[in-house]
Amino acid sequence: MFEVLPQLPADPILGLSAAYREDSNPNKIDLGVGVYKDEQGNTPILESVKQAQLRLLEQETSKTYITPQGVQGYIDGMLELILGKAHPVLLADRAAAVQAPGGCGALRILAELLKRCDNELTVWVSDPTWANHIPLIGNAGLKIETYPYFDKANASINFDAMAECLGKVKKGDVVLLHGCCHNPTGADLTKEQWNVVLELAQRQGFVPFVDIAYQGFGDGLEADAYGIRLLADNLPEVVIAASCSKNFGLYRERVGLAVMITENAKIKKAIQTQIQSIARGIYSMPPSYGGALVDIILHDDGLKQTWMNEVEAMRTRMQTLRELLVQKLAENGAQKDFSFVTQQKGMFSYLCISPEQVQRIRDEHSVYFVDSSRVNIAGISKGNVDALAAALVSVL
Ligand code: LMR
Repeated sequence: MFEVLPQLPADPILGLSAAYREDSNPNKIDLGVGVYKDEQGNTPILESVKQAQLRLLEQETSKTYITPQGVQGYIDGMLELILGKAHPVLLADRAAAVQAPGGCGALRILAELLKRCDNELTVWVSDPTWANHIPLIGNAGLKIETYPYFDKANASINFDAMAECLGKVKKGDVVLLHGCCHNPTGADLTKEQWNVVLELAQRQGFVPFVDIAYQGFGDGLEADAYGIRLLADNLPEVVIAASCSKNFGLYRERVGLAVMITENAKIKKAIQTQIQSIARGIYSMPPSYGGALVDIILHDDGLKQTWMNEVEAMRTRMQTLRELLVQKLAENGAQKDFSFVTQQKGMFSYLCISPEQVQRIRDEHSVYFVDSSRVNIAGISKGNVDALAAALVSVL
């Protein structure tokens, strides 16, 4: 039976980690998968998370099943983090939400829900978008189209083309947007551009689907929620997938949130049952552990402050690394102007070099990043930036 299925190529992002591990070059550099690393190249457990783990160990009295929607304190805390305290949507009880196994789990069950709403709808994704958006949404059976987003030649967002395309999206279709720290380009919409997206959604009647996986890594926890809050303030329906992998460093615990802002509390009640039945049909209920930790952190003033400081430290370190990389590239005689890297936000930058150049730097210098030229900024350190800059300049 199984011989009919061929072996598949490695995942474009996760496959890089395997290739990096197998490389015996002691000077290899990993700028592949989006994981925060410190100066020593480690991904430590956050101090706030460690303290929450100790408390959970003391407090947890049972391993019986949790409810299908997940840890309610986690859901409430996350909704406040994303939408802001006492947001009108929350006061009007318009947000259906479930804890999901990671941002991926959230994206997938939301795609299933959209399919239940309308078999025929199209989800519009940015060109480019995170590689895994396509299977997560497409495997639910939804049609996917792209809207122009990033112009590699000018290393900037082509907003005119994006707005022109979204201006033709039909009512009932869904437009996937990155809440902040666009993956893979690091190029984010300005406030003015978010305002135009809102106007287009209002005019065309499409539903925004916001993926927010890096809140706090761009301009800060509040500032990064500008776009999502603008849409939630002004539209009857918004879909949101959130992740705690990066800003809580809870990657392996798989902690995500699926949110559907609905027109009123009655619809919310129905949608809540729908999304829970979708989850039940795939994985039943989410793992509790990571959500329980986030619940503890977000509901303790001291721990929350510790966590916020940790997020801010990660954010500012990545910004410093952007500046350092640009400076070292110039010092190594790069003919290309890379100053756009300092304008990009979050964990990723698109270096705007060709897949052939990416392959050469991998083969000749053991520097690993995605073929599109996406680099994980957090993989840079003071110890490897000189070698990295020299390697990059050698392939330009
Ligand atoms: C990434 O984009 O590198 C991360 O979100 C990890 C992943 O699952 O692809």
